[in-house]
Amino acid sequence: MHPEIERIQATFEEEIASVKNSSDAQTIQVKYLGRKGPVQGLMRLLKDATTEERPAVGKAINDLKELVTAKIEACLATLVSEEQKEQLEREKIDITLPGRKRRLGRKHPITKALDRVIDILVGMGFSVQYGPDIETDYYNFEVLNFPKDHPARDMHDTFYISGDMLLRTHTSNVQARVMERESLPIRVIAPGKAYRNETISARSHLFFHQVEGFYVDKKVTFADLLATLDEFLNKLFGGEIKTRYRPSYFPFVEPGLEVDVSCLLCSGKGCPLCKHTGWLEIAGAGMIHPEVLKNVGIDPEEYSGYAWGMGLDRLVLIEKGIPDIRLFMENDLRFLKQFSGV
Ligand code: DAH
Repeated sequence: MHPEIERIQATFEEEIASVKNSSDAQTIQVKYLGRKGPVQGLMRLLKDATTEERPAVGKAINDLKELVTAKIEACLATLVSEEQKEQLEREKIDITLPGRKRRLGRKHPITKALDRVIDILVGMGFSVQYGPDIETDYYNFEVLNFPKDHPARDMHDTFYISGDMLLRTHTSNVQARVMERESLPIRVIAPGKAYRNETISARSHLFFHQVEGFYVDKKVTFADLLATLDEFLNKLFGGEIKTRYRPSYFPFVEPGLEVDVSCLLCSGKGCPLCKHTGWLEIAGAGMIHPEVLKNVGIDPEEYSGYAWGMGLDRLVLIEKGIPDIRLFMENDLRFLKQFSGV
């Protein structure tokens, strides 16, 4: 073989042997096989060769070219797979590592209390109905026997929206809506928010949660009301409480009652929470006023009914020992996280 071809092959072999990465291999590829590279330069030998020598010289150059090409390709192929291996190693995912924990959502303590109340009352034969938070003066007051300018309206510091529209001041607004559209007998509870324009403090807020309950049928009696409330409150508080009913006034019931339970903190012995009376006031109730029944087209001679309304927020405050009602509305996770369970 021609000494120059041999020399080029020898230096090529040396260089390709010391290649460390694919960019080294590419540099050698350009250097040896480029148009101005040594292999191409060998073409010069063809010119100087005699006619007899020429085929042999041509073949030798071609062989070298093929050898160089093949070795570079082989080298690149192994280097690429090395680099891929490194990349795979870098990007490896350890599927045996424990996953990131997802935090479980929790229900708001008031929602939980509401669920409990609904559960008990549905078990006692009531069905759940909802009414609007934005209400007309008619359903919030008028139909419930609060005529315009009636002093009982002063008990409700009302947010008026415009004209006749307002934010309901109690969930009693659902009473007439349901009585107008459902056929008798009706046994319904209506949970929801109520709104009053009061100064916000640790003990009161602009909105709070109530559950209204009512039953209209033939021969519904005052004894039915007391028995139903007794059973409901005993189920709600675990049968360890006493109930007490005191006369009170609400325009839409007659007679009207204030419903008390023995203090949940001191069991009736007397403590600061119950102002040493042993009792907590938790609901209003009464026999539905004949005027209300008339207003929705029910004959009070034939039908009678009872109704009650209770607030939830204060109950949860007491039960959970929460010092400030505003915590319910602020959605602070540090507060909400403290109420585990569903
Ligand atoms: N709606 C009254 C309030 O928010 C509570 C109430 C009292 C509801 C007596 C009733 C009832 O159904 O009979 O102050």
